[in-house]
Amino acid sequence: MRDVCIVIVALMAAVPQVVGAQSSSEDRAEFGLLTIAAHDTVDRVDPAAALQARLDSGEAELTRDPVFGYLPAVLEALDVPVSSQSLIFSRTSLQVDMIAPWAPRALYFNDDVYVGYTVDGLVLEVAAVDPDGGSVFYTVDQTRQDGADFRRDELTCKGCHKTGLTGGVPGVLMRSYLTDRMGNTVTPIDERPTDDRTPMEVRFGGWYVTGSHSLPHAGNTRAEELTHEIDQPDRYLEGFDAAAGGNLQTLEGRFDPSFYLTEGSDIVALLVLAHQTRVHNLITITAQTAAEALEEQGFLRLTRGVDIGPDELTETAANRIDSAVEALVRGMLFYRAEPIGEVAGTSSFSDDFEARGPRDSLGRSLRDFSLDGGLFEYPLSFLVYSDAWDALPAVARGRAWTRIREILSGEDDPEFPLLTAPRREAILEILRDTKPEFAAFESTGLGGG
Ligand code: HEC
Repeated sequence: MRDVCIVIVALMAAVPQVVGAQSSSEDRAEFGLLTIAAHDTVDRVDPAAALQARLDSGEAELTRDPVFGYLPAVLEALDVPVSSQSLIFSRTSLQVDMIAPWAPRALYFNDDVYVGYTVDGLVLEVAAVDPDGGSVFYTVDQTRQDGADFRRDELTCKGCHKTGLTGGVPGVLMRSYLTDRMGNTVTPIDERPTDDRTPMEVRFGGWYVTGSHSLPHAGNTRAEELTHEIDQPDRYLEGFDAAAGGNLQTLEGRFDPSFYLTEGSDIVALLVLAHQTRVHNLITITAQTAAEALEEQGFLRLTRGVDIGPDELTETAANRIDSAVEALVRGMLFYRAEPIGEVAGTSSFSDDFEARGPRDSLGRSLRDFSLDGGLFEYPLSFLVYSDAWDALPAVARGRAWTRIREILSGEDDPEFPLLTAPRREAILEILRDTKPEFAAFESTGLGGG
């Protein structure tokens, strides 16, 4: 909460009364980017809707596996790597009765879609990031023999996927709970959702984690008592060694691996999940805030005759958009990220992830892991390449590029512990080579600085 207030105050001071096309030379940055908006209306749908359209037209087909149902076909069709498998045994999601330490739920993900699978579950659960509207939710009926359909299911899902924990928007999340031996929750190990700012020692409660790591985490552990046998759940952690389950290379003996597509729950995949769930929500919050602010000012123009040109923003609209953009940009740049120590995973996840690129002329990529202190070698989120980012209203995207460039061109800042000078320079170079919009933005001199 404190962060938000500071941001708003700082921006109020900086934004002129009406940020207009020709109002001053500094503001031309905004003008350039609002102009981009005009030819920015590409029709985009989320990947599940796109696949459903291909299923409807007969262009694609999903075959059912006798053990896994439609899971392997869905992952393949959506280009989700099996190596992203992340296993969770806390009963914190929809199909609670099917989840237990001996039958963990498996999650798989790529940059724009998440798939949840429970052994013998009735449905696959899918959350896709809709470029225009945040996360959208689908189920795929696992019991049907004759082909799969993605069914939109908003009501059931939003009870948990659109709350304060997702920033109030339809979103994705990761939690950390101490569970009992059945997987029932005893107490949160961390009240907040897990993201880059979460200390390692309180991450991954209720998750299986494979891989080595130098800092302790709370994965692979649980209480041996049952929840109702524990008197003071909130104080239970005081005498409990949450870090006892670290450095597991295999989950052998925990559950029957033949019900899973692969062994393990790679620590690197879990670290990426923690990062991208939050950034996806921040992108959604920014998109919604910008859309609402623009709509409101359009309304003012029409009903109150307020004199604002189509390429201008009122102070109120500019402030609203800027505070959302600031939170997003900070999230993208690993603001106040906690150190993760040295980690090494157990699957091909890191290689599969890095192979997605893109790479600059020197072979560098925002996806390159560092795995010896911070998560990434060049800590600006790879989600700048996602459809959701590209679909941000141009005014918000433009202001985000301006801020990203400002921060990367600036001095060392203790709030961005990972952004050393060589890294800031490298990230700028990578962006110039791999993100045409950023390169155009800089080279036309519309960068505002
Ligand atoms: C009872 C609350 C609850 C309901 C209802 C629920 N979910 Fe979730 N879901 C969660 C939680 C909590 C997580 C985080 C991982 C975990 O704890 O299992 C999650 C994770 C997911 C994920 C992985 C991405 C992420 O957010 O981490 C997908 C996909 C998903 N849910 C889909 C769905 C769909 C589709 C529905 C509706 C059909 C649904 N969920 C209903 C609580 C819920």
